[in-house]
Amino acid sequence: MALPLCFCPNPEVRNIYRCLQMPLGPYYDETIVKYIKSWPPEQHRYLDKKMQEKLIKEQIRLYTEEILAKKSVLDVGCGMGIFLEVCQSMGTLAIGVDIPDSDFTPIHKSRWLPVVYHDCRKFPWPFPARAFDVVRCVATITFLQPENFSFTLQEMARIARQKILIIANKGATWDKGKPLLTTPKGWELVRDEGTLMTWRRNG
Ligand SMILES: C[S@@+](CC[C@H](N)C(=O)[O-])C[C@H]1O[C@@H](n2cnc3c(N)ncnc32)[C@H](O)[C@@H]1O
Repeated sequence: MALPLCFCPNPEVRNIYRCLQMPLGPYYDETIVKYIKSWPPEQHRYLDKKMQEKLIKEQIRLYTEEILAKKSVLDVGCGMGIFLEVCQSMGTLAIGVDIPDSDFTPIHKSRWLPVVYHDCRKFPWPFPARAFDVVRCVATITFLQPENFSFTLQEMARIARQKILIIANKGATWDKGKPLLTTPKGWELVRDEGTLMTWRRNG
């Protein structure tokens, strides 16, 4: 796969670019299956990779057509990394950021996923300005403390060239924190459907 030149001077990110050139298997890794079986049964839907892929492809179709157009993506709180794999299968460059010592770290490592480790409650995040076309944050915003939501959005606006997508997991923290998401200067809110919000750069 032809990769664009690395836009980020960070050596960790350069290594990730190297990893991106390695083939990922289409298999659903045993590590994941073993790991998820230790979760409560209601979480076992994650065992079904096909279903997760379908959900992610649906999200891409509905909310981020840029990804189909092979724009680059930063996936904040990338979880098991299925989104990263879906993007890779479509030829879209996607990098995940996840908290150091995330439960998912062994999975990322066993599958060579392109993940940068950083606690996103701390600023700045380790990416240069306008490094990705799209910054995506799905089911993760509520893990970042409500008092940080406005900083979080500002930081996403610094890193995104074109678009920000937040899909929150439902919960009291989101309801309380959402009013703090003031649209950054140079951006416009183009979609607000409760737990789903998107912004586009207009300046
Ligand atoms: C519920 S999972 C969502 C995973 C994935 N985005 C999805 O839609 O399935 C939340 C993710 O946020 C990550 N996370 C939690 N706190 C974080 C923090 N402070 N900084 C960065 N990532 C964090 C977790 O490790 C996990 O990968």
